[in-house]
Amino acid sequence: SGFLPQLKSALLKLGVPEDFLEFLSSSRKEKLEIPQAQGALSALRGQPFFIPLYALFLTYGGIFRLTFGPKSFLIVSDPEIAKHILKDNSKAYSKGILGEILDFVMGKGLIPADGEIWRVRRRAIVPALHQKYVTAMIGLFADATDRLCKKLDGAASDGEDVEMESLFSRLTLDVIGKALFNYEFDSLTNDTGIVEAVYTVLREAEDRSIAPIPVWDIPVWKDISPRQRKVTAALKLINDTLNDLIAICKRMVEAEELQFHEEYMNEQDPSILHFLLASGDDVSSKQLRDDLMTMLIAGHETSAAVLTWTFYLLSKEPSVMAKLQNEVDSVLGDRFPTIEDMKKLKYTTRVINESLRLYPQPPVLIRRSMEEDVLGKYPIRRGEDIFISVWNLHHCPNHWIDAEKFNPERWPLDGPNPNEVNQNFSYLPFGGGPRKCVGDMFATFENIVAIAMLVRRFNFQLALGAPPVEMTTGATIHTTHGLKMTVTRRMRTPIIPKLEKEVLEVDGDRPLKTSSPT
Ligand code: HEM
Repeated sequence: SGFLPQLKSALLKLGVPEDFLEFLSSSRKEKLEIPQAQGALSALRGQPFFIPLYALFLTYGGIFRLTFGPKSFLIVSDPEIAKHILKDNSKAYSKGILGEILDFVMGKGLIPADGEIWRVRRRAIVPALHQKYVTAMIGLFADATDRLCKKLDGAASDGEDVEMESLFSRLTLDVIGKALFNYEFDSLTNDTGIVEAVYTVLREAEDRSIAPIPVWDIPVWKDISPRQRKVTAALKLINDTLNDLIAICKRMVEAEELQFHEEYMNEQDPSILHFLLASGDDVSSKQLRDDLMTMLIAGHETSAAVLTWTFYLLSKEPSVMAKLQNEVDSVLGDRFPTIEDMKKLKYTTRVINESLRLYPQPPVLIRRSMEEDVLGKYPIRRGEDIFISVWNLHHCPNHWIDAEKFNPERWPLDGPNPNEVNQNFSYLPFGGGPRKCVGDMFATFENIVAIAMLVRRFNFQLALGAPPVEMTTGATIHTTHGLKMTVTRRMRTPIIPKLEKEVLEVDGDRPLKTSSPT
């Protein structure tokens, strides 16, 4: 029965070859449509958007389409497709809506930039993060963390709980300001106008990235909305400060006698800005400002989020914390970390690898197709907006054993440091392909130093009665109500003083320690 089989047998009787009929019906079937996710829009409200995207991934698979009124997005959670977009055919993709959202703060900075501007800036900036520079930064990471330790010492003495997320944010702001343009935000001790301005701009960038309507683009709104005026004022303050720093640095470079060479570094000012200016980087002040602003945000928010979620995970898994403290005690003792320790603190590194798996920063990567392409088996058009869900890749229950468990042991200590290449794009802590993070080594060392120094001195527990730790999204994953912790000084192994002519006894008869006969 049915029309098609009847038509087929009639055509066969007329002498049409069977192969040809097969071909006709199969090409009908292969006009493939990307699965369309249905009826999940209400679920998007009230929780971070990557959580419903995870549920949809389990239903619809590694690529599906999500439609909101006139807008539609492709959600990619398949490692092969992610590799295709990020690496193998990366030239066919741009940053798309990211550039639109971030334009007000990053302009044509390295993260949103595309095409020729991106290529030129990437080539100028990557050499600035050379080995000698990153090595010099270890001392800076340690000094900043030491200031945080002093602050926590105070809290531990007073028995006051501390909100760690904001402290981590200040730690990483202090680090990146000094590392980028030799500026002391000193935000762990002060709340100056510039620190507040940086936070105003950051929150605005995040709100814009999740806002349904771009109200900030409405001409009159910009001038009358108190909030938009505050953003404009904050941007002006930051821009003026950056322009001053650029001018100061230019004068330093002009006055110095050092010849520029490959691993050039000015000992007094090893900053990235100094490197760029000394390299004769031929660039407008506006572009330089955009790049500095981009790196200020990229390097600050991400590292703060990694530290926040790592300490949250550690508080939930005391056996991991014990192992971590053991490693740090034996490698560092009471020293500040050095570059040699970065290789020795292997378990510390695995803790960070695993924290970045469970809480990838940012949880999605954004792209737009600039030409037709084929993703998996599906042809796509030019102009498709795409979210690569790193969250889904990192939580995929078919790929990871016990995907939700914080288990640094899943990465063997003697194995390679996990990255997108050796994990075939199932693990993308720093992206992949030509647009991979330029600060991956910087950030990894920064996090190793901070974690090692903190767990060496303190124990951290979730504060009693603190609100549950829930997730909110902006560009990175934040907590909803902060990370309130009780910080206590670690008990050191008691140092037993050398006793003369005396026997200490426990349990009545077994000597614990005897003095050597003199
Ligand atoms: C790009 C993650 C720290 C500068 C990226 C990307 C990721 C990432 C996933 C790729 C974005 C994409 O493909 O759309 C992280 C994480 C960090 C971190 C998790 C901390 C743990 C830093 C630091 C800096 C930095 C410290 C600066 C010193 C950049 C820049 C790009 C980038 C400039 C854009 C590169 C390009 O498009 O060519 N980062 N990042 N990041 N990151 Fe990082």
